[in-house]
Amino acid sequence: MQQENSELVSEIMRLKRERNALIVAHNYQNDEVQDIADEVGDSFYLSRVCAKSDAEVIVFCGVKFMAESAKILSPQKTVLLPEITAGCPMADSITAEDVRALKAKHPGVPVVCYINTTAEVKAECDICCTSSNAVKIVRNMPEKEIIFLPDINLGTYVQKQVPEKNLILFNGGCITHNRFGAEEVDAARSKFPDAAVAVHPECKPEVCDKADFVGSTSEIIDFCSKSDKKRFIIGTEMGVLHKLKNDNPDKEFYLMTPRLVCVNMKKTSLNSVYRALSENRTVIEVNEDIRKRAVACLQRMLDFKF
Ligand code: 13P
Ligand code: SF4
Repeated sequence: MQQENSELVSEIMRLKRERNALIVAHNYQNDEVQDIADEVGDSFYLSRVCAKSDAEVIVFCGVKFMAESAKILSPQKTVLLPEITAGCPMADSITAEDVRALKAKHPGVPVVCYINTTAEVKAECDICCTSSNAVKIVRNMPEKEIIFLPDINLGTYVQKQVPEKNLILFNGGCITHNRFGAEEVDAARSKFPDAAVAVHPECKPEVCDKADFVGSTSEIIDFCSKSDKKRFIIGTEMGVLHKLKNDNPDKEFYLMTPRLVCVNMKKTSLNSVYRALSENRTVIEVNEDIRKRAVACLQRMLDFKF
C-alpha cells in the first residue's frame, strides 16, 4: 500500500510539473491529499491563492463551490474538481430564485453571501464572505440592515458580534456541524476540564456560546497552535486534526464527536487527484454572464481592507 502510494505520489508530481498545475486542498481533505497539496488552508486563504497563482491548471481538492469560486476568479485557468459529486449541501440549500425573492421582500437591502454558495447565488449578491471575515465585513458595511445567507448559524454568530446591525437570515445550514449540541460540549468539558474548546461558526449557537474560541478552520488551527493550553476539544470537521497534530506533537486534540465527518470532503483520494491530472477531470465551467456578476461579489471580498 505504502509502495503503491509513493508511486502514485511520484506520478502526481510528474503530471503536476508537466501541466504547470497547482494542487490546493481544504483543511477537511483526507490526510494523504493534504500531504501532496501545494497549499492547504481555509476557504478564504485558498480563494486568494487561486486568484494570485500563475499556474495553468488548478486541481481543487475540496467541494464544488470552492472549485467554482476559483474558476470565477480565474476564467483563463483550467480548474479541476477531482470528484465531481463532492458538493456542499449547504451551498445547494439556496437558489438564485430564493435570493431574488428575499431581495424583492427587502428592496434596497444589501446581500452578503457566504462563500458556500453556487455561482448563480453569488451572481445575485453584493459581497461574499467566509467564516474568517464575515464579522469584519458585516461590521464595516455602511447599511444597518443586511441580508445574510445561507447559513443561519453563522448569521446568528455574526449578529451577536455586531449587535448594531440588523441581519435578515436565511434558514440554511451545514449537516455536519449541526450533528452535535450543547450536551456534547458539556460532556467533553467534564471529561477534559483543562481543555480549550474551539469550534467553527457553522455550529449551533448554543455550541458557539459555550466555546472558548470560534473561528474558521485555519483560525482554529492557529488558535490551538499559539495557545499555552495542552489539550483541545475541536468542534469542526475531523480533517483539521491532521495539521493540528503534525504541527503540535506535544499537545492533545479531541474531536467533539466522531460524527464530525463531511462525506463530500472525504470523497477525494490520491487516485482521484491522479485521474484529475491524467484525464483532465472534471473541468469546472461557469456560464460567462453568471461569472461576470459573481466575480464582482467575490472580488469585493478580496479587495476588502481588513
Ligand atoms: P472554512 O472557510 O473555515 O475553511 O470553512 C469552510 C467550510 O465549508 C466549513 O464547513
Ligand atoms: Fe459544506 Fe458542511 Fe461540508 Fe463545509 S462541512 S463543505 S459546509 S457540508
